[in-house]
Amino acid sequence: MAQVARKQSMLLQFIVTFFVFLSCLNNGNAGITSTFIRSEWPATDIPLENEAFRVPNGHNAPQQVHITQGDYDGRAVIISWVTPDEPGSNKVQYGKSEKNYEFTAEGTMNNYTFYKYQSGYIHHCLVGDLEYNTKYYYKIGSGDSAREFWFKTPPQIDPDAAYKFGIIGDLGQTYNSLSTLEHYMQSGGQTVLFVGDLSYADRHQYNEIGLRWDTWGRLVERSTAYQPWIWSTGNHEIDYMPDLGEVTPFKNYLHRYATPHLASKSSSPLWYAIRRASAHIIVLNSYSSFVKYTPQWSWLRDELKQVDREKTPWLIVLMHIPIYNSNNAHYMEGESMRAVFESWFVQYKVDVIFAGHVHAYERSYRISNIRYNITSGDRYPVPDKSAPVYVTVGDGGNQEGLAGRFIDPQPEYSAFREASYGHSTLEIKNRTHAFYHWNRNDDGKKMATDAFVLHNQYW
Ligand SMILES: [Fe+2]
Repeated sequence: MAQVARKQSMLLQFIVTFFVFLSCLNNGNAGITSTFIRSEWPATDIPLENEAFRVPNGHNAPQQVHITQGDYDGRAVIISWVTPDEPGSNKVQYGKSEKNYEFTAEGTMNNYTFYKYQSGYIHHCLVGDLEYNTKYYYKIGSGDSAREFWFKTPPQIDPDAAYKFGIIGDLGQTYNSLSTLEHYMQSGGQTVLFVGDLSYADRHQYNEIGLRWDTWGRLVERSTAYQPWIWSTGNHEIDYMPDLGEVTPFKNYLHRYATPHLASKSSSPLWYAIRRASAHIIVLNSYSSFVKYTPQWSWLRDELKQVDREKTPWLIVLMHIPIYNSNNAHYMEGESMRAVFESWFVQYKVDVIFAGHVHAYERSYRISNIRYNITSGDRYPVPDKSAPVYVTVGDGGNQEGLAGRFIDPQPEYSAFREASYGHSTLEIKNRTHAFYHWNRNDDGKKMATDAFVLHNQYW
């Protein structure tokens, strides 16, 4: 009897497999909407007093330490930190061996208020003239409260320089955020491309808004003190709150996070470009003007002309609002920027565009909609070999939770989509090939859920 039952079950399995196979054939190149069932922590922020936000020991000890690239080509870093009680020292001591700090750089200090919240003393220090491919140790603060960290400079700009980027978006400060951060830190990524929406402090009220910018800085320090995070801004950085008398957009963000915008001749820290190893990275701001003749538009037009694919074959663009998104959340919000910039992205053969905003993961095929105009009927995106791949990684794990409702049926341009928390990595091997992975938190550290080989658009 048992044998008969087993045979019947094998037959049933065979039939099911056969039909799954058939349906795959029928769909051809159709995209995948993953139905993975995930476990997740509640989408609430970690309590203020939690160990994840631990304040370092010692009077006025530097906290919220973070670094970013400080120049165009990767020979400088900007080191930033906050001293809570008094201004303290602006100095960074640094050198190439541990505890042996041969050099000193002097930074600047500022503070600000937001409603009745009074910020700590925020320090930014440019450390330049570094050697490529070198580990540097650095020390900030003084006496018993001093703290020491390290970072590695990238290889010299070279078309075949290998480098591994992480991509994180919409991170926030929940246990899901911490899980994403810890998974990223196990990935071997060397620099984070952050696609906007940092702290979600604006989901809190009154003085807690400022405090939640502080806790976020302490949460991410475990990574940001040791490797550059390349910042772009999202709607949760705007902090436009007329009810509290706060009407200067990006006030919290701009005091705390510096970018090397002058090195790429940008007039605003909110949009800029850097070159790192074999990549040219363009950071756009979805929430500053970008229509024709605005500063961001003019800057991008000029910056794209600077891109030299012979030196930096990989052209990557970061923005917050995705241009191609088939989730119900934020559907069509990227349309205005698509109408203005998409033809440039195709003309300059951008390799990949990373965005956030939608709290899910999605990847597109290479498609464009540049033939569309309001009098022609060509209004549907079509396959386009010169177009970028569009990736949405707004799935860092913030307190707004996941965006689980996708538009059905899945549009033809959408290759893979899933509402789970995670991060991506882009591992550039040489001028022609890069390995891309999306890593779902639930799968532990080595499991890539969506992966493909990215072929360079120029070489
Ligand atoms: Fe957003």
